[in-house]
Amino acid sequence: MGDAGRSGKHPPFPFRALARRSLFHTPLGVSLVGDALGVLRTLPSSSVDLVVTSPPYDGQPKYGDGESYDRRWYEGYFLKVTREVHRLLRPRGSFVLNYRSKRSGHERGTLQYELVLALRAQGFLFCEDFVWGKPSPPPGKFRRFLKDAVEYCFQFAKGPDWQFYPEQCLSPARWDAKDRARRRALPQNYLRVDEPSGQGRRRALAGPDMVRPSTLLLVEPEFSRNPTEHPARFPVDIPEFFLRLLTRSGDVVLDPFAGTGTTAVAAERLGRRWIVVENEASYARAIERRLRLDAPPPTGRKGPRSGARSRRGTDPPEP
Ligand SMILES: C[S@@+](CC[C@H](N)C(=O)[O-])C[C@H]1O[C@@H](n2cnc3c(N)ncnc32)[C@H](O)[C@@H]1O
Repeated sequence: MGDAGRSGKHPPFPFRALARRSLFHTPLGVSLVGDALGVLRTLPSSSVDLVVTSPPYDGQPKYGDGESYDRRWYEGYFLKVTREVHRLLRPRGSFVLNYRSKRSGHERGTLQYELVLALRAQGFLFCEDFVWGKPSPPPGKFRRFLKDAVEYCFQFAKGPDWQFYPEQCLSPARWDAKDRARRRALPQNYLRVDEPSGQGRRRALAGPDMVRPSTLLLVEPEFSRNPTEHPARFPVDIPEFFLRLLTRSGDVVLDPFAGTGTTAVAAERLGRRWIVVENEASYARAIERRLRLDAPPPTGRKGPRSGARSRRGTDPPEP
């Protein structure tokens, strides 16, 4: 549970009420089928710690609903969703937007940058532009462009004191020989000691230190089995990284464009509470199957339950 939820200053998340409307739920979260904007409008203000999402990329009518998700969709619809996201976030909450404009004619599309400016105008702070680098990008041959190997994960926050826990995502330092030599020469890496040898100093920082990660997230695109044939899943490492960096156990995480529920998988694995919304029923149904496979409940805890069948006994706990 987030700080604000703990102190009771902000409304707790209404998991039980949502579980009754859900396609299915677990003790940690609820999965809803519906329109993102419509659902978000029903949720209480200042009740979510982190929103992580990857909306449909522009101009790519591939989800079967006929929508082409072009600039008009972003300007006319998506920016209404982000307004709701701002309202839903707790004061220390963040919004991570995974997005990449496609190329348009001879140029890289600019919508990704325009969205940053539009969200700032809505009152968000633009905290960071994490780059998701794909070591093995999808193949392609383009006349004057190379293979597209990056996407952005823009982090926005509601206020300057956003929750931030880099110690929850430390990674082993990978120093090369040059780095090691440079570090050996730095005076701050030694402790003054009174040693009989008379040397008077001892290495303080030795060995494979754990270090804060950088803003470059090197993660392969999603290659694992995809029974849903969903065309644009992100790898679970992406939401997992942001859940570790920006939330603690029990915090509430929301993904309004859930696809196959990758954010829900990350939240289940890390013990965060979650709510996901997806408007295409076939994808939404796949989330339940996926959770059973990719985030099975610890022994003794109940797994996903259908919203209609399980109103008693397995409701998520009210915070
Ligand atoms: C890029 S995909 C998300 C993929 C997801 N991150 C995953 O790993 O599976 C975007 C999703 O948004 C859904 N979507 C599109 N319009 C929506 C709307 N108005 N409300 C809710 N979901 C919507 C699409 O069906 C699609 O599954």
